[in-house]
Amino acid sequence: MFISGLILASLALWGKGVEAAFGLTTNTDTYIVDAGSSNPLKFTVDRSNCDITSINYYGSELQYQSTGSHIGSGLGSATVTATQSGDYIKITCETDTLTHYYVAHSGDSIIYMATYTTAEPSVGELRYIARLNADLLPNEEPFGTVSNIAGGTAIEGSDVYLVGSETRSKFYSSERFIDDQRHCVSGSAHRVCMILNQYETSAGGPFHRDINTNNVGSYTGLYWYMNSGHVQTESYRQGLHGPYLMYFSRSGTPSTNIDTSFFADLSIKGYVATSGRGYVSGTASGADSSMKWVVHWYNDAAQYWTYTSSSGSFTSPAMKPGTYTMVYYQGEYPVATSSVTVTAGSTISKNISGSVKTGTTIFKIGEWDGQPTGFLNAPSQLRMHPSDTRMSPWTSTPTYTVGTTSPSSFPMALFKSVNSPLTIKFTATSAQTGAATLRIGTTLSFAGGRPQVTVNSYSGSVPSAPANLDSRGVTRGAYRGFGEVYDVGLPGGSIVAGTNTITISVVSGSSGDEFLSPNFIFDCVELFQ
Ligand SMILES: *[C@@H]1O[C@H](CO)[C@@H](O)[C@H](O)[C@H]1NC(C)=O
Repeated sequence: MFISGLILASLALWGKGVEAAFGLTTNTDTYIVDAGSSNPLKFTVDRSNCDITSINYYGSELQYQSTGSHIGSGLGSATVTATQSGDYIKITCETDTLTHYYVAHSGDSIIYMATYTTAEPSVGELRYIARLNADLLPNEEPFGTVSNIAGGTAIEGSDVYLVGSETRSKFYSSERFIDDQRHCVSGSAHRVCMILNQYETSAGGPFHRDINTNNVGSYTGLYWYMNSGHVQTESYRQGLHGPYLMYFSRSGTPSTNIDTSFFADLSIKGYVATSGRGYVSGTASGADSSMKWVVHWYNDAAQYWTYTSSSGSFTSPAMKPGTYTMVYYQGEYPVATSSVTVTAGSTISKNISGSVKTGTTIFKIGEWDGQPTGFLNAPSQLRMHPSDTRMSPWTSTPTYTVGTTSPSSFPMALFKSVNSPLTIKFTATSAQTGAATLRIGTTLSFAGGRPQVTVNSYSGSVPSAPANLDSRGVTRGAYRGFGEVYDVGLPGGSIVAGTNTITISVVSGSSGDEFLSPNFIFDCVELFQ
């Protein structure tokens, strides 16, 4: 009696810190999983639709109570089953075209997940959204309040808001897939991080970006977008998305190096263990070494990428067997494309070499990096709307004079109804009056926006329309599209010795107001012979 009384008292003293028992409770309507972790984590899954309806972590309810956490906007109904085997609990939610898994591992304050699809959900996008307690988890990491729309007024679509004097949107929380292994929401006593081991079954490549976090006031959304229509440049992939996971901590930020290899033992549809995968390794060479280099592999079923080392050497992630297109980028600009076949259990050697090829440069504005880096408003465009008062005025550079005007005054985007045409002046020598090419690199277009050029009295033709992405872009912080490059051939004599005037105008058949008028984003402008 005395001894057990002592133990009970001690348990009470340990309070929240006590290790709970790992286990699954099966109720009529719910499954409750106790992760058995030292900072206790208990979550509840609705047996009718797969929604998470409660996440109790370290004594606090972190789940928003009015709407669950789920795939899409909820599966509506699903066949939900649960099994416990040793140190693992797996909850499986099945519909005709989608199977979602929640997995707990004894002792981990982690909700592991994976989503297997055979078709795109009818809502047209595939995402996981955790709707979390905005009072306890108000902060978004790493980009802060750019996507906190609490108390705001919609100014574009139903997704760009004005909060006080700042424009904000869930889109401004996005990060390039290649750099996005973890995004978090936090408060003074809790942090929840979405950690992504890979994007092999998503679409869009290494530079695609999508919504990560969004404090809407009533809840804070923490997302993993797998497939979406936000500036989507590739067909969707189906199969197993993930594993991905939500990591619960009190103040620390977890490492992104989380071992999910135990999924191999859990009968997860579509899971390919490391032993069933292969690698590509080699050396990339030839591109501009002042930029980061990326090697990217893709086919209809999967996509992978890696940065190279500073010497150009690379090893791919563990890839599913198959034949892949292999692309080498400086920054985001492709300089070489090749093909490689990966087989399970082996590493294939494959080098890739390429560079930007032009001619003898007369002038160049920007760099061939596939991004608007260095241009007016480029840094802020990722995190705010072009109308934001924190931006520099778009019309502040009526004429760009090569050699005099700073590239930081060259507008990152040209909008038909805002700052078109753009005038460039440059001085040529008599040796430069022969035939030349004006190359205009763009990263993204909207509403058919594309450049038409005049050089002194010469008028370039109207280029054919760029592929329609059917998605707002520059106003939602996006810049990565197909990256159309336009070459304007200038006949001999169109450039004159002395001062020359170029205009670049946005042409398009469509219309639109202000920043939703046809537009495109600049990568680089180069005149060469
Ligand atoms: C690939 O490049 C490395 C480094 O330059 C070189 O040692 C190797 O022989 C090359 N491999 C092939 C297959 O060309």
